Amino acid sequence: MKRDRCGELRRSAVGQRVTLAGWVHRIRDLGSITFVDLRDSSGVVQVVLRRGEEGHRLSREDVILVCGEVRPREAPNPQLPTGEVEVVAERLTVLAQAKPLPFSVEEDEVQASEETRLRYRFLDLRRPRLQRALRLRHKTCLAIREYLDRAGFIEVETPMLTRSTPEGARDFLVPSRLNRGTFYALPQSPQLFKQILVTAGVERYFQLVRCFRDEDLRADRQPEFTQLDIELAFLEDPEELLALLEGLVAHVFRQTIGVNLPTPFPRISYDQAMLRYGSDKPDLRFGLEIRDVGDLFRGAGFRVFEEILARGGVVRALSVPGWSEKSRAEVGKIEEKAKELGLAGLAWIKWGEEISSSLGKFVGERVIRQVLERVQAQVGDLVLLTAGPEGTVAPALGELRKRLAHEAGRVPSDAWALAWIVDFPLFKRSEGGTLESEHHPFTSPKDEDLDRLETDPLRVRAKCYDLVMNGVELASGSIRIHRRDLQERIFQLLGIGPAEAERRFGFFLRALEYGAPPHGGIAFGLDRWVMMMAGEPSIREVIAFPKTATGTCPLTGAPAEVDEAQLRELGIRLER
Ligand code: AMO
Repeated sequence: MKRDRCGELRRSAVGQRVTLAGWVHRIRDLGSITFVDLRDSSGVVQVVLRRGEEGHRLSREDVILVCGEVRPREAPNPQLPTGEVEVVAERLTVLAQAKPLPFSVEEDEVQASEETRLRYRFLDLRRPRLQRALRLRHKTCLAIREYLDRAGFIEVETPMLTRSTPEGARDFLVPSRLNRGTFYALPQSPQLFKQILVTAGVERYFQLVRCFRDEDLRADRQPEFTQLDIELAFLEDPEELLALLEGLVAHVFRQTIGVNLPTPFPRISYDQAMLRYGSDKPDLRFGLEIRDVGDLFRGAGFRVFEEILARGGVVRALSVPGWSEKSRAEVGKIEEKAKELGLAGLAWIKWGEEISSSLGKFVGERVIRQVLERVQAQVGDLVLLTAGPEGTVAPALGELRKRLAHEAGRVPSDAWALAWIVDFPLFKRSEGGTLESEHHPFTSPKDEDLDRLETDPLRVRAKCYDLVMNGVELASGSIRIHRRDLQERIFQLLGIGPAEAERRFGFFLRALEYGAPPHGGIAFGLDRWVMMMAGEPSIREVIAFPKTATGTCPLTGAPAEVDEAQLRELGIRLER
């Protein structure tokens, strides 16, 4: 259809005859004359319908074709790029009518429930906010491909119908009709395929790829999501990759939202992140750093802390700037929050005109001053202290730190705080007491920790790295194991014996026997990345057709029952 673009009309077009096609965005019916804001993907322009009856027939979101002349607007609208002109319609054709709308599509904000928005996603996506998000996503993918192509990477697709890869979630299974009783798994990530690709001589691989994980959903998790997946051959030192990725992230930020990120990003060890921020994905946009103050309380006279320390626990503290005036009741409220998070209680020090503390009765002034110094408190600060087992205190105080920073208005909304978290442990203890991979079983242990693999596995560190941005894990990667014997040793420690390893990963272990180069890589969560650059609170806002929090698609009604006949063909009988 030959047409002019609504959003491109300017004063220079005055006097021209144009043909516009688009959606009726807004209607102002003044009786003898009707003003219509006509919208296409380039923007909105005012159309004047002189013959009243035509205007009366129109409804919001009807699709119309208008031919007419561009003329200057009597009352220009400086808010609109096309605000100096209007098009006086000479011919109007209604191409398609729209029923009354379930919600307005003209505003960034919408009142409708998520269920309604997703059921009418074809309307919801017309909203400017979502259009902006889709464009940003497109530009992000373009910038990624441009940068990686220039750096010598090629994009290779990997199968969707495959075997299970252990990324820690449940698999989505697809029954096979041709091989009754067997199932494909949708990939949780292309982890093994990318390792096989570098083994196959694709030295620099990437892919924008859909991944599937059957896990509980949150604002930054969807059952199907997109990764930017990357793998490189001949990679031994993570630093070689991190510099390249910093260039990639900086390029994307510059190309899409015009932000210049300073590089290199800081490197923080896992232990330091857990100590100072109580999280392996710390939000570094604000201070409020946590400090260990256990040593200051040993023998200082406060029984509660001393007993906890004697049992191997920790005492930690953080300082909230400008909160020394908080009343006892207000501090009590903070303590309630802390208890909800699993902390036993809070002690406090206020540094106002003078120094006061809930610990004043128990410990000397010297200890209090040492705590203030340790947490780098200033006049005007409120220092909070807590004690307990490290596994409880660190994450709970980390969460409290974030909440207090938000409450105290110390989180700048326009800041980008990126950092690499490195030196993760290779394993963690599962609830059942067995060893589990902290990342995935293909992650290489650090060379210097290899001899304690069997004797002290929880102290073995991994060659892996996470990229965190404003408290969100944006990407995660590692140097891989490229020798079969070491891979089998790791499987053994994870409780995967030789027979099971052969059954589940035999295809992959075989690849390691035919000249697998040292290699490593990473995967970014593309949805999360775009969500953050768009300033959206959920990845659902940057995915065209997302699922609800319970994994359903209100638009299509998926997941849905299927015909008996389909099940019979697959050899499946449902238990009701
Ligand atoms: P990982 O499992 O950490 O690593 O995933 C990499 C990144 O993908 C994003 N992500 C998600 N985004 C939305 N919804 C989800 N359910 C979801 N799960 C993960 C996160 C995360 O950092 N194969 C390894 C990577 C590697 O080692 O190269 C992997 O998939 O941003």
